[in-house]
Amino acid sequence: MAVRLDGKSLARDIRRFLSARVAELHAPPGLLLIRVGDDPASEVYVGTKQKMSAKVGIESSVEVYPEDTSESALLARIAEANLDPKIHGILVQLPLPKQIDPDRVAAAVDPTKDVDALHPVNIGHLAQGQPTFVSCTPLGVLALLRKHEVELSGRHVVVLGRSNIVGRPLSLLLGLKAPWANATVTVVHSRSRDWEALTRQADIVVAAMGRPEAIRAEHVKPGAAVVDVGIHRVAGGGPDGSPDGKDRLVGDVHAESVEPLAGHLSPVPGGVGPLTVAMLLSNTVHAAERVTGRDGGSVELALQAAGVLS
Ligand SMILES: NC(=O)c1ccc[n+]([C@@H]2O[C@H](COP(=O)([O-])OP(=O)(O)OC[C@H]3O[C@@H](n4cnc5c(N)ncnc54)[C@H](OP(=O)(O)O)[C@@H]3O)[C@@H](O)[C@H]2O)c1
Repeated sequence: MAVRLDGKSLARDIRRFLSARVAELHAPPGLLLIRVGDDPASEVYVGTKQKMSAKVGIESSVEVYPEDTSESALLARIAEANLDPKIHGILVQLPLPKQIDPDRVAAAVDPTKDVDALHPVNIGHLAQGQPTFVSCTPLGVLALLRKHEVELSGRHVVVLGRSNIVGRPLSLLLGLKAPWANATVTVVHSRSRDWEALTRQADIVVAAMGRPEAIRAEHVKPGAAVVDVGIHRVAGGGPDGSPDGKDRLVGDVHAESVEPLAGHLSPVPGGVGPLTVAMLLSNTVHAAERVTGRDGGSVELALQAAGVLS
């Protein structure tokens, strides 16, 4: 039976570490969370980010703009926040309404306040092997694997997905020349041929393709570590398989079939999700510390917070 990669308890440890770091600062870190429109999932995500920020002493503020907000109005607000010394981190929750180009928004955020790490400068630094801000979910996956002593160095990782927020930065991060990484990484996407042959060779599989329960036992090598990034709300079924009216959360991995043969498996919920939020807090604390001249690296802070780097 797979060892459970418990993200919930690790996120708690990370918050405890970050609270102590915040207490060393003269002023609390400030985080601006921007939401445009009324996507119900975004409302929940932003609410969680605000609640968790408060737990570590980060002062967050949420600004909600109507669905028909123009791109120029949003860019103007970001430009203002870039200049506000009380705001150390800026996050614009995705998805955005169709009239707003998410790439333009990402490029408008000051790279030193880019706690979601979507600015081309930050992705460029990561690609060059000198990470500054790194996207929160990839940081969470790295911390989760290291915390459970899943060795990455020299091992074959297959990342399913190549989005700018998860798959691509994750594949770059795990392949970095660093003692906590050094993996051999294969990226699988929707045009990959015979991806099952690749996942069956992998020591570590990270599923981030947004396809409910697509990774099944036959796709995984016995003993492999499997990290499930996906999150989907599906209609629940009663004992006879008919809908029972209750929704349940599932990932991109079919946990029931994979659990008996994998070496490690992250649950959904309670795996990667809480760590994504914890790493947003870590990046925000990093942004605030940088202003005071304390900069040991954002990945290093995240790994220290997770208790896997001294
Ligand atoms: N737990 C968390 O904190 C967290 C955070 C972020 C996202 N998520 C979840 O993680 C999943 C991925 O999110 P995302 O934002 O990265 O999604 P996304 O932007 O939709 O990207 C999905 C990626 O998967 C690839 N893909 C789609 N179908 C595939 C298939 N059959 N085989 C292989 N690759 C396939 C796509 O390939 P192409 O590039 O060819 O289109 C794309 O690169 C979603 O379920 C999302 O809800 C969870």
